[in-house]
Amino acid sequence: MYTKFYRLDEKPFEITPDPRFLYVTENHKEALAHLIYGIREKKGLTVITGEVGTGKTTLIHTLLKRLNRVDENTRIAYVFNPKLDSADFLQYICEDLGLAGPKRSKGENIAQLNKFLLDSYAQNRNVVLIIDEAQKLDPELLEEVRLLTNLETATRKLLQIILIGQPELSELLNRPQCLPLKQRISLRYHLNPLNKEETKEYVKRRLRIAGLVNPNIFSHQAIDEIYLYSKGIPRSINIVCDNALLRGYAADQKTIGDQIVREVISNLDGKVSKSRFGILNRPVLEFVSRFSRRGMKRERNEQNL
Ligand SMILES: Nc1ncnc2c1ncn2[C@@H]1O[C@H](COP(=O)(O)OP(=O)(O)OP(=O)(O)O)[C@@H](O)[C@H]1O
Ligand SMILES: [Mg+2]
Repeated sequence: MYTKFYRLDEKPFEITPDPRFLYVTENHKEALAHLIYGIREKKGLTVITGEVGTGKTTLIHTLLKRLNRVDENTRIAYVFNPKLDSADFLQYICEDLGLAGPKRSKGENIAQLNKFLLDSYAQNRNVVLIIDEAQKLDPELLEEVRLLTNLETATRKLLQIILIGQPELSELLNRPQCLPLKQRISLRYHLNPLNKEETKEYVKRRLRIAGLVNPNIFSHQAIDEIYLYSKGIPRSINIVCDNALLRGYAADQKTIGDQIVREVISNLDGKVSKSRFGILNRPVLEFVSRFSRRGMKRERNEQNL
């Protein structure tokens, strides 16, 4: 669609957590370092929080990629939707760790897991449980997580657990009934949104990875508007930039200025206004209109021949 117009190899602002596009701020570097340190040093329970869309799942995907690459000795269970009952939760973890077999009872799964952890310990293998969206854990599963933190030898935690979620996770862990679990947290980190300079670099990096040698499609003022609206949250940046590229393409603009970004933002906010191109303020309509403008131009050219 707009990729050819801007000479891009692919769309730069997709909202999937693709680690290829990772932009590592100091904040992300520290978060990743906490995760790796927690796993390597067998710290037990690590908690990472961050606002909606700040890149928590992207961080986990980056961690998984890194662990797979450099560390064949780590086995990982990754729970990305913790809305399960406790029996299914344990069954899922066992299956993800490769402990296949028929559906087992909760007790059988715990026994199986414990044996696997002890064997792994004997073979110097590390076992990690990652729970994404952990703010959604209900009390029953939180208790299950607490019991899992008890799987240990006299000197070592057998299972490294990472809870990662939105700030509600902190509220959840602050509840009095979660005190026993909270006391077991060894490492904790909060992922912040990007600052203005990072937002600019983030946009450029994505454009560069998508194939641009000179990634200056967005003007300084456009970046200012993007930052103001997104507050440095990568998912919001991606949505505004993707829509702005579509609108820029529709309007035949090789450079995206602040006006296009403002139009996109008011459209995203559900405000329908007349754009300076004289049609309803919707990129899709402009896209269609651009096609018809091209068609008319082609027709005129053919008539002049
Ligand atoms: N550091 C980053 N580098 C590159 N892209 C990022 C980064 N952080 C986030 N993104 C992008 O922002 C979008 C949202 O990221 P992600 O899904 O990881 O956020 P999240 O914090 O897990 O959100 P939620 O709170 O909804 O679970 C994705 O498109 C992702 O690629
Ligand atoms: Mg996520």
